[in-house]
Amino acid sequence: MIIKTAEYLISSPSYKDCPKPDMPEYAFIGRSNVGKSSLINSLANNEKLAKTSGTPGKTQLINHFIVNKDWYLVDLPGYGFAKVSQSQRKSWEKMIEDYLRKRENLVNVFVLIDSRLTPQKIDLEFINQLGEWEIPFTIVFTKSDKNTQLETSRNVKAFLNKMRETWQFLPQHFVTSAVKKTGRDQILALIAELNAS
Ligand code: GTP
Ligand code: MG
Repeated sequence: MIIKTAEYLISSPSYKDCPKPDMPEYAFIGRSNVGKSSLINSLANNEKLAKTSGTPGKTQLINHFIVNKDWYLVDLPGYGFAKVSQSQRKSWEKMIEDYLRKRENLVNVFVLIDSRLTPQKIDLEFINQLGEWEIPFTIVFTKSDKNTQLETSRNVKAFLNKMRETWQFLPQHFVTSAVKKTGRDQILALIAELNAS
């Protein structure tokens, strides 16, 4: 897919404030600092589109972008950020759960996993939750440029093996780097395919 335009639209505290659900929508989620905003910028070919930061917890609202005036890209706040109060965490969880379960034009969720890490319980739990809610998703391993290929493929295999303990069929997965743009074309190809179906 060729990206002709990618524009920021709105940041919403609730799914109720999101743009009219009149176009297919794709959301990016994962632990704080996993690289959601960076991946969105890499897809859009615009390093300044979504705000990124070395400090976890940068993205706090539901951020909508519109691509090619044809589909929505959504940058969500990360989960598992330790430095927030219990009540703030609860309200984020509620915001994300409501968005994921009630956003009617949501076509697919991209769940980002740090390719440098061995399988993390919090990611597996989040994925199992998506399964219970019957929300379609794809796994995206991030920051592959920070690892050797061997380490990345070990972590990817270990993660998928862990998933096999609960999942009969594994979802599609991609290995990406926002820096090197690895995996970018594959993700855009999937979105184009889903937009067309
Ligand atoms: P929150 O909004 O805080 O949840 O974080 P996020 O998941 O949006 O992460 P963000 O894109 O802000 O990136 C976090 C840090 O990781 C930044 O310092 C990025 O530059 C860095 N980063 C993200 N993706 C990559 C990547 O593919 N390779 C490398 N080397 N660094 C990356
Ligand atoms: Mg972010």
